[in-house]
Amino acid sequence: MRQGYEGTGPGAITPDGCAVELYTRLPVGTEPDIITAAVPAAAHILELGSGAGRMTHPLLDLGFAVTAVDESADMLEHVRGARRIRSSIEDLDLGETFDVVLLASFLVHAGDVRVRRALLDTCARHVADEGCVLIQREGENYHTDVPRERTDPSGFVVRILSAEPLGDGTSSVRAEYVFPDATWTQTFLSRPLTEEAFEEALAEAGLKVDRYLTDDGMWVRAVKA
Ligand SMILES: C[S@@+](CC[C@H](N)C(=O)[O-])C[C@H]1O[C@@H](n2cnc3c(N)ncnc32)[C@H](O)[C@@H]1O
Repeated sequence: MRQGYEGTGPGAITPDGCAVELYTRLPVGTEPDIITAAVPAAAHILELGSGAGRMTHPLLDLGFAVTAVDESADMLEHVRGARRIRSSIEDLDLGETFDVVLLASFLVHAGDVRVRRALLDTCARHVADEGCVLIQREGENYHTDVPRERTDPSGFVVRILSAEPLGDGTSSVRAEYVFPDATWTQTFLSRPLTEEAFEEALAEAGLKVDRYLTDDGMWVRAVKA
């Protein structure tokens, strides 16, 4: 397990505390629409932290080619129709570039600054000169509006139970997913990033914001600086 990360509930748990079965159940939201609107049709997407393919499969259905990367073999086993690579994102060096590099699921908020830098370096290393990096950030009040919960129309409840500041710029966030037949929790470290701090982190990796894709500032299109 990664330090500060843990998960509970049935089945395999990834080093960052995600439950594999949970991610096979979670429905996709608006992510494929946001991505489609920001990139060329039929682009080749390098999806970092693909999990079980929740976004991969709709992206393939939309005509994109996807290379899916995850450090969890248990997650990748569920990915169909994409090239699959088991690797930590930090260590990934494929020696090739892609039209689009996707870093979603708030991974840019890694608790360890060195890990965050390595994730963004991987994005920069793999994006084509005219390509783009799509990043999903936490929304405003992510750490302060707690506890909070949402009932999904398909019948499960997601709760952010707590976000406890650890005094080093990170918080320990605890999430719970309650289905009629199973409950999973994930505890993970998150380092909040103001827009300014986020843009500085991009610059350190040789990237810059092209534009914010959503009004809430959560989805960002970045390009080589
Ligand atoms: C929260 S899940 C999200 C999965 C997928 N992006 C989705 O939205 O359904 C995060 C995934 O990223 C993977 N992951 C997290 N940090 C990683 C890292 N540094 N290197 C490789 N995989 C990582 C985990 O194994 C997990 O499958």
